[in-house]
Amino acid sequence: MVVGDFATELDTVVIGAGPGGYVAAIRAAQLGQKVAIVEREYFGGVCLNVGCIPSKALIQAAHVYHQTKHPEIFGISAENVTVDWSKTQDWKQNQVVKKMTSGVEMLLKKNKVEIIEGEAFFSDRDTIRVVSGDNAQTYTFKNAILANGSRPIEIKGFPFGERIIDSTGGLNLPEIPKELVIIGGGVIGSELGSVYANFGTKVTILEGSKQFIPSFDKDMTKLVEKDFKAHGAEIVTNAMAKGAEVKGDRVVVTYEHKGEEKTVEADYIMVTVGRRPNTDQVNLELAGIDLDDRGFVKVDKQGRTSNPHVFAIGDIVPGPMLAHKASYEGKVAAAAISGEKDEVDYVAMPSVCYTNPELATAGHTKDSAKEAGLDVKVTKFPYGGNGRAVALDQYSGFVRLVTTKEDNVVVGVQIAGPSASDVMAEVVLAIEAGMNAEDIALTVHAHPTLAEATMDAAEAALGSPIHM
Ligand code: FAD
Ligand code: NAI
Repeated sequence: MVVGDFATELDTVVIGAGPGGYVAAIRAAQLGQKVAIVEREYFGGVCLNVGCIPSKALIQAAHVYHQTKHPEIFGISAENVTVDWSKTQDWKQNQVVKKMTSGVEMLLKKNKVEIIEGEAFFSDRDTIRVVSGDNAQTYTFKNAILANGSRPIEIKGFPFGERIIDSTGGLNLPEIPKELVIIGGGVIGSELGSVYANFGTKVTILEGSKQFIPSFDKDMTKLVEKDFKAHGAEIVTNAMAKGAEVKGDRVVVTYEHKGEEKTVEADYIMVTVGRRPNTDQVNLELAGIDLDDRGFVKVDKQGRTSNPHVFAIGDIVPGPMLAHKASYEGKVAAAAISGEKDEVDYVAMPSVCYTNPELATAGHTKDSAKEAGLDVKVTKFPYGGNGRAVALDQYSGFVRLVTTKEDNVVVGVQIAGPSASDVMAEVVLAIEAGMNAEDIALTVHAHPTLAEATMDAAEAALGSPIHM
């Protein structure tokens, strides 16, 4: 504790009000703990302010624009379709983001969580100091949940500025660029790339590895690649970005491709090569909290760190950087503080890429199942055999189930198609509950729905497909 500063005592303190922190705080309060939450910048964290939510708003706006401009297949023609970008931005910010973030603040208050605005730093194993402008206050705590999130990685040769931007810059561009180069064809690069490609920008994506969106199976990402190409976008794989030079309102990128040095020019360069945990910002060493060799906080299955009174959740702990993972870990940590036996189990953790088509995966892929020593088979049902998808004119995709050979237990799912993120939910439940393909096949699915494709895939897995 700092001399001359009277410490306020807290029971459970949560640091960071993102999808990890605010959910942990509410659950801890529901379990009867006296909870305070410290937030330095914005309620809802990266996800609600500069991540999941604003990106999905722009994806929707861009999709509506493109559909309205090209309705010919439905026998409709449209002229003079225009976009007022400032109104699009205003809608995204003031009607979507603001609505969601003010909801978080309201929920915290409703659950009697004390809100402390400021930046928290550990002073020792059970003390934090919260700094806000010229003021600072010391607090001791019985338990803490650290949920202070992550930030974009800035690479050498690409200093962030007006023309070289990160994902937050990409969400808030002052104009729709004529040309945009994206370094990193991962989840953010492909999602925001699809926004601008739909708005008519000439998008070039430089991806360092050999596959576009490498965290999803190749037969899924190929479909997205095809859609990008149909929008005039260029995707260059095995392309390592080397440096950038800003020339007035243009910027030139140098990259290496198949041993050759090449350049490409654009109005903006968006760098989306991953995110790093904010574990270097809170004096973890003073609290006795150990990190792994990649800078993530080491935790046990309840989220407990090497300091048993401090739990860590979300983007600062190992595993995929996903909002729903952060929230899940937050609930487990809150329960652990209340003495419950809850532990994390990532067996059915879903992951989605909101491109066209959407890509969704949960549980095992064929390869990961084999690596885990499971004897599995895969069954793929194409959306071409699904009436709803055909009527939507969005049928280039499939549902793939990964099931055990012996007793058809569902251990994985991959979906490429319209609303894959939502269609996946019943299979995630099946994996979580240890159900088999029969459970899905025997469940009556409304017709015509996209979800029928999972029933069809399950029937195919059982050797009795109706629609293929
Ligand atoms: P954060 O959301 O980063 O929240 C941490 C909070 O802690 C912040 O509010 C920060 O201000 C605060 N903080 C940090 N340090 C301190 C301190 N010292 N004192 C007080 N407060 C502090 N994930 C998905 O699952 N689905 C998506 O569709 C998706 N889309 C995304 C799109 C983009 C463009 C980006 C960038 C990310 C996206 N993500 C998505 C990832 C998702 O945003 C993160 O996984 C999620 O926000 C992590 O939650 P968190 O609570 O761990 O941290
Ligand atoms: P990412 O890890 O998904 O993709 C980064 C890509 O950049 C990789 O494909 C990598 O090979 C490539 N790369 C790295 N260095 C490079 C270089 N020098 N030149 C060219 N390519 C290079 O990271 P991204 O897209 O920044 O997203 C960060 C995190 O945010 C992800 O882990 C993801 O989980 C989360 N997120 C989740 C979303 C969702 O759930 N829908 C949406 C957006 C983000």
